[in-house]
Amino acid sequence: MQTALQIPVTKTAQSHLSSIDFNHLEFGKYVADHMFKAEWINKQWASPVIVPFAPIPLSPVALALHYGQTVFEGMKAYRTPEGKISIFRLEKHHDRFNRSLDRMAMPAVPFDLFKEGLLTLIKTDSNWVPEKEGCSLYIRPFVFASEARLGVKVADEYYFMIVTSPVGPYYAQPLKVKVEMNYVRSAEGGTGFAKCGGNYGGSFYPTAKAKEEGFDQVLWTDAKGHQFIEESGTMNVFFVIEGTLVTPPLSTSILDGVTRDSILQIAKDLGIPAEVKPVSIEHLKTLLQEGKLQEAFGAGTAAVVAPIRHISIEDHLYELPEITENALSLKFKKILHEIRTGMVADKHGWNTWV
Ligand SMILES: Cc1ncc(COP(=O)(O)O)c(C=O)c1O
Repeated sequence: MQTALQIPVTKTAQSHLSSIDFNHLEFGKYVADHMFKAEWINKQWASPVIVPFAPIPLSPVALALHYGQTVFEGMKAYRTPEGKISIFRLEKHHDRFNRSLDRMAMPAVPFDLFKEGLLTLIKTDSNWVPEKEGCSLYIRPFVFASEARLGVKVADEYYFMIVTSPVGPYYAQPLKVKVEMNYVRSAEGGTGFAKCGGNYGGSFYPTAKAKEEGFDQVLWTDAKGHQFIEESGTMNVFFVIEGTLVTPPLSTSILDGVTRDSILQIAKDLGIPAEVKPVSIEHLKTLLQEGKLQEAFGAGTAAVVAPIRHISIEDHLYELPEITENALSLKFKKILHEIRTGMVADKHGWNTWV
């Protein structure tokens, strides 16, 4: 008979929970007391453990540091008003994790190991899941090539780890974004659909330039001709055009966002017209000029839903209508919150209870 995976837990002698100011959480500033760790050796995952959060020994020639075999996920645990803890769409995040690992020629993580590692970690650090509305425990599973070897090769040894971080709201204000017409995040056939470190490293420079120009984020366009909108920063993007929700279709250059998928499902459930179709820059420009773009917003685990108020296209700054309380973006944000915290029925089975 198969027995459930038992993950040994070594607890910290010195919790630093009391030093955290839960009223002023900054995204990613704090990490919780414990971490999960397993090793890929001899073609299998071994030695899964929960241990106190601490630096790990790593060779300066660990392959990940040189050739970029690193993959991560970003997900969240929420606390309900009754004090229970739910994890949002664990299966979908695990599925994407393995698709990213596959693209980077890295070993898959079996569902049992992912789930048990995560649940044991969240149970161990359950006091770290914030209670305040709008706050949550961000969960970061990641795999990287730990094998010490300088030659260019696919690694034979990896670490799979999970760390967590209590977080508050991401963006305080509606965003001002720039349609990026020079740089690209990823190209068709590349690694854009994978959550691998290099995609983020490559986007820092153009994003920093946009920030110097006063923008919060860039709206990435396709690598072939800068004709179509892809996504924004660490968010997928939605538009509301004459009452219809519109988002670009997935491709090998766009991340298959869990929030994007959830919003499309909620729109379907509520009978809100939605279309998955390419959005060209020319069309966007016309809509903005004619005042027909009702809303634009980014959607992702970190920011949840981030309304966009200004869009710059080829040095022209367009302003979108003011965001009212009837905005679809806010409606999706509210429903997502209600589902995650058990306030409305979770009819698609998105919550895993800890
Ligand atoms: C490039 C990119 N696009 C979109 C998203 C949104 O995905 P999700 O809703 O799964 O967080 C993320 C965040 O993970 C991202 O990094």
